[in-house]
Amino acid sequence: MNVLVTGGAGFIGSHVAERLLDRGHHVVTLDVLDSYYDRSIKRRNLRICRETGGDRFEFVEGSITDERTVRDVISSRDVDVIYHKAAQAGVRTSVENPHKPHEINTTGLLTVLQAADEHGVDRLINASSSSVYGDADTLPYVEDARTRPRSPYAVTKRTGEHYCRVWNDVYDVPTVSLRYFTVYGPRMRPNMAITNFTSRCLNGKPMQIYGDGRQSRDFTHVADVVDANVALLETDAADGEVLNVGSTGNITIVELAEHVAEATGGEFELEYTEPKAADARHTHADVSKARNLIGYEPSISIRDGVSAFVDWYRQNRDWYEPLVVQS
Ligand SMILES: NC(=O)c1ccc[n+]([C@@H]2O[C@H](COP(=O)([O-])OP(=O)(O)OC[C@H]3O[C@@H](n4cnc5c(N)ncnc54)[C@H](O)[C@@H]3O)[C@@H](O)[C@H]2O)c1
Repeated sequence: MNVLVTGGAGFIGSHVAERLLDRGHHVVTLDVLDSYYDRSIKRRNLRICRETGGDRFEFVEGSITDERTVRDVISSRDVDVIYHKAAQAGVRTSVENPHKPHEINTTGLLTVLQAADEHGVDRLINASSSSVYGDADTLPYVEDARTRPRSPYAVTKRTGEHYCRVWNDVYDVPTVSLRYFTVYGPRMRPNMAITNFTSRCLNGKPMQIYGDGRQSRDFTHVADVVDANVALLETDAADGEVLNVGSTGNITIVELAEHVAEATGGEFELEYTEPKAADARHTHADVSKARNLIGYEPSISIRDGVSAFVDWYRQNRDWYEPLVVQS
């Protein structure tokens, strides 16, 4: 199949692209190589895709907000399926600058959906986020729970889900939105808790925790996230739907720090800083819907996943350091 991965130089997109290349598909990645975090990480991700796919892999540097580029990439490569991962990610950064996530995550998605309709693609799989729930009334979250986004980023993700459903129902583009729950694993973004904790722990610095550390997260390994994406390549069972893609449980941030410390084998110290207002207190996915519709079964526990991440990090310190180790 001919697959377009938008944002394919990023963390999740490059893992999806790599798996699809591994299975023999043709992949074109459209990515603007945004400087939200170090672009050398994105270039390394692209190199891995190139090594995996050879001439079945192609990279186009450009923006999803540029109509002509998006149309051209989709039609000239005769794209069958689109994995839409391009975004301005990050809850906190969206509070500081709400215009950028709006432009990329909302207008950019709309541009991709229109071009997908014009070309008649078979399916678009949209990256949404657990942040759409805000602070839901009950845990774990089920997809039809009330959503109450707490940040501009979360608003763009909820809006994106609505656009995708409308393009599924009214236009002729089957779509599925996947609500990811704090994704981690090799090559993950540097500005996230697990990267930061690992880096600081290995460098003998205290791990920094926002708030009291009793907030909890459903950390999902990227390999499980890729499974959910790949399952959607050929099935129409979830068209028009929103699915939670979470893990096997949720843990507090202090427990996460303990797992990282256990895996690094070192002493550890915690340093508490101000809580961030836009963060949800707890996240936890009910994955029954994804299990029923597409056979999704998360398989990597947080303890195993953190341990594997720390092993990977030790061998790839130059990907991040000295970037993520602040004083
Ligand atoms: N990582 C997580 O925990 C998580 C959780 C929930 C949802 N998501 C969503 O999953 C998707 C992938 O997240 P990620 O963690 O891989 O982020 P990432 O920042 O690593 O990847 C996003 C990619 O999009 C690219 N991009 C930004 N603006 C673009 C534009 N205008 N045109 C083309 N490309 C552009 C960036 O350069 C980057 O490579 C995003 O939509 C994000 O909102 C991620």
